[in-house]
Parts: sequence; C-alpha cells; structure tokens
Amino acid sequence: MSRLTRVEGLLYGGDYNPEQWPEEVWQEDAALMREAGVSLATVGVFSWARLQPGPDAWDFGWFDRLLDLLHAHGIAVDLATATASPPAWLVRAHPDVLPVTADGVRLEFGSRQHYCPSSPVYRNAALTLTRKLAERYGDHPALALWHVHNEYGDHVTECFCPRSADHFRAWLRDRYGTVDGLNHAWGTGFWSQRYGTYDEIEPPRTAPGPVNPTQLLDWRRFCSDALLGLHRAERAVLAEITPDVPATTNFMSMFKPLDYWKWAAHEDFVSDDAYPDPADPEAHVTASLNYDLMRSLKQGTPWLLMEQAPSAVSWRPVNVPKKPGLQRLWSLQAVARGADGVLYFQWRASRAGAEKYHSALLPHGGTASRGWRETVRFGAELARLAEVAGSRVTADVAIVLDWDAWWALEADDHPSARMRWPELLRPWYAALHARGVTIDFVPPHADPTRYRAVLAPNLHLLRTADAARLTSYVRDGGHLVCGPFSGVVDEHDHIHDGGAPGPLADLLGLRVDEFWPVPDGDRVRLASGAEATLWTEWIEPTTAAVHDSYATGPLAGQPAVTRNQAGEGAAWYLSCHLPDAVGDVLDRAHRAAGRGRGPDAGGPGAAQDAAYAQKSRMIRGGVGPAIAYCVSRTDTAPVDGVRCAAVPLPPTQP
Ligand code: GLA
Repeated sequence: MSRLTRVEGLLYGGDYNPEQWPEEVWQEDAALMREAGVSLATVGVFSWARLQPGPDAWDFGWFDRLLDLLHAHGIAVDLATATASPPAWLVRAHPDVLPVTADGVRLEFGSRQHYCPSSPVYRNAALTLTRKLAERYGDHPALALWHVHNEYGDHVTECFCPRSADHFRAWLRDRYGTVDGLNHAWGTGFWSQRYGTYDEIEPPRTAPGPVNPTQLLDWRRFCSDALLGLHRAERAVLAEITPDVPATTNFMSMFKPLDYWKWAAHEDFVSDDAYPDPADPEAHVTASLNYDLMRSLKQGTPWLLMEQAPSAVSWRPVNVPKKPGLQRLWSLQAVARGADGVLYFQWRASRAGAEKYHSALLPHGGTASRGWRETVRFGAELARLAEVAGSRVTADVAIVLDWDAWWALEADDHPSARMRWPELLRPWYAALHARGVTIDFVPPHADPTRYRAVLAPNLHLLRTADAARLTSYVRDGGHLVCGPFSGVVDEHDHIHDGGAPGPLADLLGLRVDEFWPVPDGDRVRLASGAEATLWTEWIEPTTAAVHDSYATGPLAGQPAVTRNQAGEGAAWYLSCHLPDAVGDVLDRAHRAAGRGRGPDAGGPGAAQDAAYAQKSRMIRGGVGPAIAYCVSRTDTAPVDGVRCAAVPLPPTQP
C-alpha cells in the first residue's frame, strides 16, 4: 500500500477535464487510461460551472457517470473541490467577488481564479460546493484523494478591495493588539505615518512613494494567511464528512507569495506542480531544488508530483517540447527525490481554450503519436518501480529557507535591488548538486542538530531566538556557512541593534561596517581568484580568521570570507555573492571540518549514495541496485534526449 493514498505503488495519471468532451469520448479515455497504466485521475478541477449551473441548480448526473466509469476501469480518483474558477452567474450576481489590484482595477471574469480571498460570498459558495461534493462522493469507491482547490495564488495572490482591507485590519489586530503595538512594529514615527486607530489602516495600495516596509511585510504575511484560511475552511468541511480520505493541494514549487512551511502543516502530504523548461540546460537543477523542497516541507515524507507537462507547456513566450526520453528522465528525477507518484497536466489535449497548445498524455494526434507511445512505456516502467513507494530519501546537509526573510530581502529601497533570494540561493544549491550532496531545506525555527552542516545563503531577516538556536548548534559541533546581507533586520524589519550581522555577530566573530553593493556588470576579484558580483561588504573581524580577501575594487585588501571557531564547531561567513565559486568555499569548509560534521563529510556523493542506498534497500532481490542506480543518476545525467536513453532501465521481469 502506498503511503499517500490507498492506491498501491507509485501513482501515475493526471488531470482529466471531461467537461471538454462528449461522453462517448470518456469511454475511449477510460480504456486508454487503463492501457497506459494510469492509476489516479484528477477530475473536477474546473467543473464548477457544470456542477452548479445556477445558484440553486445542481447537475451531478454526468459526474456520477464519470466516476462510475473510471471506477469500472480500475482508475482511482483524485477529486477536486472545483473551487478555483467561480462560475459567471456568481460574479455577475456579486461583482465584489472579483479581485481588485493595488491600482484599484477590478479584474474581470473570463480567465480563472477571479475571486477575492477575503470575499464572504466566494467563501460561502466554495464551501457549499465542497460540502455537496463530499456528501455525494465521500463513499464513492473511486475516491482516493481530495484535490483541494487548485494552485492557490497562481494568478491572484492579493486583493485590495474594501473587504480585504477589513480582513487585513482584523489580522493586524490579532497580531498586535493595541494600535500602539502596531505603530511600534511598523516604525510609524517615520514620515508621520502614526495611526490613531485601526480604522485608519489600509492595504498597501499604490502610493506616491515608497510604502512602509513593515506594512508591506505584514501584507505579504496576511495574503499568504488569507489564502490559507480559505484552504483550511475547505479542508475542515472534508475532514468533517470524509475523515479517512487524504487531502492535498497542489503547491507551485518554491513560490514566493505563499509560506509553504505554514501551508504544509495542513496537508496530509505535499503535492507539487513543476514545469522545468526543456529549453533551459540547467532546468534539472531547478527541478532538483524544488523537489528537495517538496520533500522537506513535511520532514522527508513522500510527496506527489501532481502536475508536470508530458512535453511542451503553452504559457511561455516560446514553448519547447521535451525531447524523446526527457519526460521519463525528469519523472524519475522526482521519484529519486522522494515523489511517490508522477502525474501530469493533462490527460487528453484540449481542442479549445487557452491551453489548447499544451501537451498531454494523449496528444491531439491520439494513439498514433510519439507522445502516446512514451505515455504507455513510462506507465509500464513506473509500475515496475512500485516497491520504491514509501521509502525515504535522507540528507545530512540543510539549507535554511524562511519566507519572512525572503520577503524582507526583496523589499524596495535597499542597498541593492539585485539581491533576490532565488539568485542568491541558486549557486549554493548548484554547487552541492554538482558534488552529489543531497540537500534538505529547513525553516529557521527547526532544530538543525541532525545535520552535519547548515547553510544559510541569506537570512536577511533573523529572529534572535533562531540565531540562538544556530549558535548552540555550532557550539555543539555543527558547521554553519552563512551568506551576505544576513542578520540585518528583526521580525519587524527593524535593523538589529549595532547593525549586521545582528544576533550572529558573536557566532560569526565579526561586524559588518558597511554594505558595498557591486554595480551591474562589474566583478570584484578575491585573492583566491574567485569573483564576486552583486554584493560585497566591509567587514571587521573580531574573533574570525580570514580565509579570503578582496583583491580588486574599493575593498581591496579587506577580508571577504571568514571562519570563526565557536565551541566544537565553526561558522563561516561570505560577505559577498560568489556566483561561480561558492562551491570552493563549501569545499574549504568541508576540508576544515575534517571528517566531522562538515558539509559532505563522507566525501563527494556519500550523502546522496547513502540516501539512494536506502531507497534501494526497499527493492528485493537482485533488482535493487539496478533501480537504485537508474533512479539516483537521473538528475545528474545530461539533459540530452539520446544520452538520457542510455540511463539503465530496470529489468522488465524482476
Ligand atoms: C497549472 C494548472 C493547470 C494548467 C497547467 C498548465 O499547473 O494547475 O490547470 O493550467 O498549469 O501548465
């Protein structure tokens, strides 16, 4: 039995949108799904207008027939609550369901996700629909999983209407109690921004100049929480009526607007939609990073690749298809990084609508197409890997990810607008990926003691308690490598007393004297030959030893990279962004750590091999090593269609 649902093995299937097709086609679909080895179909994602054609009109007959048909073909259903695209009659009767932008523009009907997260009308309608579906299908034998809503925040992450303003004020009252508390947190002594009552506060709509940064930070927190509130409300209905049916909502990889640490706590398991770009030669690294995050969000438990494209998407300026074999390679990559299933958007290619050029498991060309042949071949292959389901991938190096820090880092009016979390993180992750080191992500409040090394490419916002936890971790023998512009502000986005690195000053053994961002296009050389872009800092070591210095630019001769021995462990600091050389610093940190708890202490690839060996132990007989090899090497293999076909296949007859 799979760990995710009652369906055994690794899940295989995708979004099925039956309302786009006459019922005769459903028969063919069900038969072909069976032929392809589909075990789970996601249905109903955009069915609201068909299921509820009017305020008091319900039409479930066609949906009953559909679920019965799928069940008769042995296909389990991931049933959507269908709430992501409210019908026209609802928004015409209640125009304030439609969301409003920061400039006051009300977004029109005619796409999807056209709802204000704080609209009581939308919420009630969505919960009524969820309840109806749960009551009607809760006992249906096809039901294996609830697909709550769809991609929260995909198009609309915030709404600035008066209802949202009321909701924001209530959220702020909960957070701060008195308005004085808010005035302090928001630093409203600045620019005469003091509030006398909560009623005077509005969302950060378009204003004449820079908006209060703490107001913006709280707005981001609020917007993530507002959507989470909707999600939890749907979850509560499902939990009441079908307590034994698992539920998940599809995340969108490392997505800035939603704090997925908070969200994941409300999922039975994490699921993700991932669309690496076949035109990007480094797309497999991006995918790997996102999959490691998905696995980490619920502490290493198996997750589900809910959506990916069988070949091209339709929403990039140029939509390059996947070369033969590439979807197989990237699917196995997800499995290797902990996914217990591979699903796609979508089953049958649409003939109308905004996504008619999006690839599908069953392309427009039908069963005569290359895509269909791959669909069938991969379904059979995944079935042979069934025993991988439920096994764990483990890592002993962690990267700290904090949405609050991400939001604070990317606020306006900073020393440089170029310091963006994905760009700062990427070289660190890529260096470890190239060295075969498996990575977990952890939130800043996690206990890091089980990791040999903790990496913090950036912790711009850092709470004192989290800094204290990192300090104890290092003093007890851990190794921390910290990137620039960290420990600068507290949870209210106020600069820490004494400036950066704030509560990390003793641990890192230094103070930052001044930030020296690098102008666009410039590079600063270090004594080691490494080159910095974007950012440098004038630092003053107190107890830290200097491991590298600036050789060119205004800081020539000043320290750039330091290491501070603290108790049994060590804390490294990079005062600059090293897009190509951060791996060398991590290697140095590793060497200096000896065979203790430094990064990759077992030698290159040791952590990853151990993790995959663990997966392979799940496989009985002589098949294990072949599958483990196949799975473990997929995401480091070149992204070339011909070469990837050379990745060894597990034997067909175990
Ligand atoms: C997302 C959505 C799907 C579809 C795909 C297209 O993942 O959830 O409904 O729009 O994108 O790539």
